[in-house]
Amino acid sequence: MENIDWGSLPFGYLKTDFNVRSVYKNGKWSKLEVSSSEYIDIHIAATGLHYGQEAFEGLKAYMGKDGKIRLFRWEENAKRMLGSAEGVKMAQVSAEMFREALLKVIQLNKKFVPPYGSGATLYIRPLLYGSGAEVGVKPASEYTFIVFVTPVGPYFKDGVKPVNMMICRDFDRAAPLGTGIYKVGGNYAASMRAIMAAHTAGYSNTIFLDAKEKKYIDECGPANFFGIKNNTYVTPKSESILNSITNMSLIEIAQSLGMKTERRQVSVEELGTFEETGACGTAAVISPIAKIVDPEKNKIYEYCKDGKPGAETMKLYKKLTAIQCGDEPDTFGWITIVE
Ligand SMILES: Cc1ncc(COP(=O)(O)O)c(C=O)c1O
Repeated sequence: MENIDWGSLPFGYLKTDFNVRSVYKNGKWSKLEVSSSEYIDIHIAATGLHYGQEAFEGLKAYMGKDGKIRLFRWEENAKRMLGSAEGVKMAQVSAEMFREALLKVIQLNKKFVPPYGSGATLYIRPLLYGSGAEVGVKPASEYTFIVFVTPVGPYFKDGVKPVNMMICRDFDRAAPLGTGIYKVGGNYAASMRAIMAAHTAGYSNTIFLDAKEKKYIDECGPANFFGIKNNTYVTPKSESILNSITNMSLIEIAQSLGMKTERRQVSVEELGTFEETGACGTAAVISPIAKIVDPEKNKIYEYCKDGKPGAETMKLYKKLTAIQCGDEPDTFGWITIVE
């Protein structure tokens, strides 16, 4: 694609050639169909529209120096989507169907996979929603599964740059026994007031606390939180956060580099004891955190005082990104090559 400036692409939507779709009707999924339309024809009473009966996923494919396209840990996304489907009572997409859709849509849009070294990647967005008509609150009897792709630019255009975050006590994203552990649209709608409040106040994102006690860290907008101290990687355990695949991977990498790891409740006060903190997720891999502000408690927690990301954070970041683009061997078995 000679006219795409890969390096300056945003994390946004860019039209590609094809998407793939399947419809669940009368208890079974249709054969995967290829579409070149960016639109769907949707019933005005679809449960996905009215009752938020929908779930999505987000993962990436990376072009290696060897010209091979690498897909990162798709099995985990497939598993998470099964959980989300069960969480809002939708038809299930099997791992096999998920894989077939992913491989097909990548193969069909090969020319949109950004070149090695550009920092850009191919973002893959599987979407599942209730497309059947209902007026009462109940699961639909028809579902639609779509996977589209879009090339996205490097998250940090001038190298990894620490960001500032704001603790949000005014809004909750998810309740402990609610749907926070699923990747369903309603959680994202619920998070927007807090995210916009943080942006308006000049912060990169919001940090959600546990909704019940407001004592523990939940997550950072659409990313998990971690802190590092005494050679230990600490990340929150909570019933209301999305289990980040990036976080799971960083935990394994940290262990392989000789760090200890802990997944447990992290109190707000503990923020003062970390040497480094960061937010992790597919979009940025890691956003190191420079400063966390807690306006209601008049507290500021500072890291990377020299404006640079911490050394341990960068070790983890470099190792994971090297595996993703094939610069280092995939000793964990996380990569699927797209032929
Ligand atoms: C709420 C939320 N938390 C965490 C993450 C990070 O998860 P992953 O590393 O699987 O992208 C995401 C993004 O998918 C998210 O939306």
